[in-house]
Amino acid sequence: MSSSAATSVSPPLSSTMQAFIAAMPKTELHLHIEGTLEPELLFALAQRNQVALPYSSVEALRAAYAFSDLQSFLDLYYAGANVLRTEQDFFDMTAAYIERARADNVRHAEIFFDPQTHTERGIDIGIVFAGIARALRAAREQHGFSSAMIMSFLRHLSEEEAFATLEAALPLRSHYADLWHGIGLDSAERGNPPEKFERVFARCKELGFHLVAHAGEEGPPAYILGALDVLKVERIDHGVRSEEDPQLMQRLIQQQMPLTVCPLSNLKLCVVDEMAQHNLARLLRAGLAVTVNSDDPAYFGGYMNDNYLAVAGALALTRDELLQLARNGINASFLPADDKTRLSNELEQFAATQ
Ligand code: ADE
Ligand code: ZN
Repeated sequence: MSSSAATSVSPPLSSTMQAFIAAMPKTELHLHIEGTLEPELLFALAQRNQVALPYSSVEALRAAYAFSDLQSFLDLYYAGANVLRTEQDFFDMTAAYIERARADNVRHAEIFFDPQTHTERGIDIGIVFAGIARALRAAREQHGFSSAMIMSFLRHLSEEEAFATLEAALPLRSHYADLWHGIGLDSAERGNPPEKFERVFARCKELGFHLVAHAGEEGPPAYILGALDVLKVERIDHGVRSEEDPQLMQRLIQQQMPLTVCPLSNLKLCVVDEMAQHNLARLLRAGLAVTVNSDDPAYFGGYMNDNYLAVAGALALTRDELLQLARNGINASFLPADDKTRLSNELEQFAATQ
């Protein structure tokens, strides 16, 4: 990511700014549910399911979370998911995430899940859907926490395998019509361009799903163009490398194409060397529809508020800019218009009392 910023130490964030961020109503649009598996729960599930782990303790596992790039993270992330075996496991993981999100005043979350990570290990796709959905429905009923599920294809696998996953999932669609609204594309970006999934995304579009794809995290701006023009997505996940292509930047501004940016993820995966070099503020100030999200919070050291706190401090964001990020999140969500209006009103009321 290009930046002229020299190494800098950001001033500590005032306690009033911290309180502002904590209380602001927020949306989460880029969250991999398998990336919320905290080491403590991972160990508990390993014990429950009698899965051997190559780590002697929670601390030893956490200490292994030092990544040099996306692939070094994905290797641990897929290994960690091996403890998920039963519907109850998927429920427990999702319920734990919701609790963390609610504590951060997240009102609405759109959640990625990767069925192929589990079906490859012999887990029935129905178990994956059922456990996640049970937790999301309980949160809606008990707390008014709204959500959507985004089924993601693993881009290091073939398009044929993505089609097979879609075929396996479609019979479940009517049962999860209240939640399953989107299709995504994740995993190793470099060497797996969007064009590889043109046909399966076209089919998903015909089926009426919302479409999103990871692009421009590690991959070049051409992958963002491919996601837009070939996959026909309505949001770009990450997209931080768009800054390398001024024409693309103009297009993203003009179309108000949302980017679901994940600051702590970018730091932990060495997309940026320091948070002060992150381009979130430049993108926001240039007029892009950027949002703040947590990606894989159990692995990257922070949930929603930690991400906001990190960028607010390192990039000296103003209250108005923080509010704009939250507004962008509401606008970029898949929520129906009525719900968007309700959440926007809540945000503006919050702003007015500050
Ligand atoms: N899967 C989980 N987290 C991811 C990320 N940051 N990029 C691509 N694939 C992912
Ligand atoms: Zn992601």
